[in-house]
Amino acid sequence: MKTKIAVAKGDGIGPEIMEAVLNIFEANEVPLAYEFVEMGKSYFDAGHSTGMTDAAMQTIENLGILFKGPMETPKGKGVKSINVTARKVWNTYANQRDFRTLNGVQTVFSKAGIPINLTIIRENIEDTYGGIEHMLTNDVAVGRRIITRPGSAQVIRYAFEMARRKGLKKLACGHKANIMKLTDGLFLETFYEVAKGYPDIQASDIIVDDLCMKLVSHPEMFQAIVLTNLQGDIVSDLCAGLVGGLGFAPSANIGDNISIFEAVHGTAPDIAGRNIANPTALLLSGISMLRYMGFTANAATIENALLYTLEKGVHTGDFGDRSTKSVNTTEFAQCIIANLGKHPSSGGAFSQPNFECKTNVDFRPTQNKITVTESGIKEEILGADIFIESELQPAEIAEIAKSKLNEKFDLIMISNRGTQVWPTGSVYTELVNQFRIRLEKTEGVELSQKDIFNIASEVSDAVKVCSVEFLMKFGDKLGYSLAQGQ
Ligand code: NAI
Repeated sequence: MKTKIAVAKGDGIGPEIMEAVLNIFEANEVPLAYEFVEMGKSYFDAGHSTGMTDAAMQTIENLGILFKGPMETPKGKGVKSINVTARKVWNTYANQRDFRTLNGVQTVFSKAGIPINLTIIRENIEDTYGGIEHMLTNDVAVGRRIITRPGSAQVIRYAFEMARRKGLKKLACGHKANIMKLTDGLFLETFYEVAKGYPDIQASDIIVDDLCMKLVSHPEMFQAIVLTNLQGDIVSDLCAGLVGGLGFAPSANIGDNISIFEAVHGTAPDIAGRNIANPTALLLSGISMLRYMGFTANAATIENALLYTLEKGVHTGDFGDRSTKSVNTTEFAQCIIANLGKHPSSGGAFSQPNFECKTNVDFRPTQNKITVTESGIKEEILGADIFIESELQPAEIAEIAKSKLNEKFDLIMISNRGTQVWPTGSVYTELVNQFRIRLEKTEGVELSQKDIFNIASEVSDAVKVCSVEFLMKFGDKLGYSLAQGQ
């Protein structure tokens, strides 16, 4: 009885490396059947704005597992990355990337005899990947960084569960909460909240820049790290470098209904169509998929054959001993097939399932799920930040703002690029043509939404208002940051 999964061959080197991997699966009699789906560049070109056909979307939603090759998103056409869209649309909230030393793949660490075995869990939906960006003036672009409590809890819980399943002793949270006190602060707070349910795993946190330094100097300090989306993206590519580069970096995008398995690297247009690409990363992703689906014996046999092949010095042109002849993609796959059943001399395949299969296609939601944390906390509007375009000096802007205020508001400060420039500031602070005017409610006033829009409308009579943000208080916590120097 074969389990059906959706397969998208991808663009560039995608079809070549996918064929190599599926040939290895077939040789090992992996009990999978494939439904090939239409996704990628040619479907963008044919006018599908999401880069996939409706039929492809239906198939993936019906089968729950997508094994995909890299895909190209056309540049300059205003379309969103198909890879990011797929991850977000299907809520594959946890991106798991396992990095380990591979014998035969020389790195500075393998030469120094320092083994690497670490897992990065990256939040996969939120953060700057919301792609919510606006030009406020011709000179000023802003992006929204969205970090949510439910989204953070979901991926952090996944990370702790993964750590437990793998028998790990510790999990670190990478962050930049010293600077981004509300966004990264929320992620970090949620991390320690979730950690309370996992007393068997030592939870710690580390500022992301320090983390990068320690990863390149002492990677053995870490077993697993959970991070927000962008920081996780950067740190996981750093980790790929530790074990030999993108050619060895697998990636699993895990969701509760649909999961996507793919290599980290792209379509490698410079070598596409030449049958010289390295299929290892896609194979490792496929091995993760097999483990995820519970085919642990197949996964172990194939992984051992891969490790044995690498150990024997077989290599494609992008890695390994350049003094020995490289093999092409097809030959590399054939060597692995010939080595099925063999074991590497050290560091063999991981024997436990390192994933819990969450894919549940039998349950088909009829509505979008909405998760809200019940807090019972009182919310209050304390004021507003009004963002304006102006080339005036801060004191002149203050005078204009004051002339528009009513009895409900006080002008608290004005900032430019996050640095306070009024009522105090430095004449050395260089300015751009976009200011933030912070207004707070006067003593005893209770503000409504309408009060905020009314005052913004008043200000807009005098200057161009680019956007408005509410200043909120949740219980006794301020829901906004202070300006630099405030
Ligand atoms: P890339 O990863 O495709 O290539 C970077 C370099 O690594 C190139 O020199 C390439 O030849 C080499 N390389 C990559 N994979 C290789 C492999 N398996 N074997 C041997 N060499 C390999 O990154 P690039 O050039 O920035 O992106 C090319 C295209 O791929 C873009 O259209 C991009 O949007 C897309 N892309 C797709 C991804 C996905 O589908 N998940 C991820 C990253 C990029």
